Amino acid sequence: MGLIAHALERVKPSPTMAITSKAREMKAAGFDVIGLGAGEPDFDTPDNVKQAAIAAIQRGETKYTAVDGIPELKRAIVSKFERENGLAYKPSEITVGSGGKQVLYNALLATLNPGDEVIVPSPYWVSYPDIVLLAGATPVIVEAKLEDGFKLSPKALEAAITPRTKWFIFNSPSNPTGAAYSRAELKALTDVLVEHPHVHVMTDDMYEHLVYDDFKFTTPAQVEPSLYDRTLTINGTSKAYCMTGWRIGYAGGPEPLIKAMAMIQSQSTTNPAAVSQWAAVEALNGPQDFIPKHNKIFKERRDLAVSMLNQANGIKCPTPEGAFYVYPSCAGTIGRTASTGKTLKTDEDFVTELLEAEGVAVVHGSAFGLGPAFRISYAVKTEDLEEACRRIQRFCGNLS
Ligand SMILES: Cc1ncc(COP(=O)(O)O)c(C=O)c1O
Repeated sequence: MGLIAHALERVKPSPTMAITSKAREMKAAGFDVIGLGAGEPDFDTPDNVKQAAIAAIQRGETKYTAVDGIPELKRAIVSKFERENGLAYKPSEITVGSGGKQVLYNALLATLNPGDEVIVPSPYWVSYPDIVLLAGATPVIVEAKLEDGFKLSPKALEAAITPRTKWFIFNSPSNPTGAAYSRAELKALTDVLVEHPHVHVMTDDMYEHLVYDDFKFTTPAQVEPSLYDRTLTINGTSKAYCMTGWRIGYAGGPEPLIKAMAMIQSQSTTNPAAVSQWAAVEALNGPQDFIPKHNKIFKERRDLAVSMLNQANGIKCPTPEGAFYVYPSCAGTIGRTASTGKTLKTDEDFVTELLEAEGVAVVHGSAFGLGPAFRISYAVKTEDLEEACRRIQRFCGNLS
């Protein structure tokens, strides 16, 4: 009898691991490597948030708390949903976890049985299918192609729904593509969902605030209020508030689901860190003026990356609406040969050779379920981004 559970055989090791550890090795060996793989803002946590955490420590807010969040944070989340999304959740319909990832994990573990299906549009954030698999259920991957702006068509959604579909996972703006659905595009999907009352909606709104060019963010229960009772609206402080390490994520949803999620959390990590919860109260209730300031910089970087990548031979880079990622196709480089003599057969070859030749670390698109492409995170210093794009141009220009 082996020690490791069979459930782990279903889960793949993190696809970003190989490239990240290779980049780390090269850096340690003294190579000049620019990493464009990290999914976190390069900006620091706002000072008022840090001060709120320090004050909480000094007040002695350092003990266990209620499993799924202190009342003060739940109230701040209720206000946030009301103010920003027009959603009227009660505190009993709110849960707080150690990051959006734990909230997703709790929700999937609390609801999935073997045989259940979960619709996941690709390209996807890698954790969605793997958590579904860990829960013993089946991810149903539906492609959202580059030609369609990486957005799922209502027809494709309709075709993927079966009597076994339990959840539809929706993520806008998206990691890895940055694509965000307009209200009309989202309404076309919710119209399909209205016809299938057994399907629940898990919306991952983590990148809500990171949108550019006057794009208006909307979320499913806001666009189609009749879905309110079967939607879990997930969000967190990691991205917009530059708080990845504080580990606070939250969700609003139907009370029986919220209770079941708290049950899972009570038998794993108990409450999210007390000090982080107080920091999140300040993040949500305090001044929000740093967000447009950051977004101005993100938008400039996005435009720089899109423009420079589209000048690289064999690369086609659409302009995404949000997040801090671009997702260029490298189809035009496949079949060509790098200066090492290696012919690029896949996007994984592309990113490996790019790292070897130019010291630029990006993640191959097939890891996110749609290639040949690669993901660039532009949450790095603008000079580094510019230099990395120059190197990508040179790498592509040297292909024969
Ligand atoms: C789409 C998406 N959802 C959820 C998360 C989880 O974020 P956290 O657990 O830091 O709240 C991430 C982080 O990379 C993400 O990209």
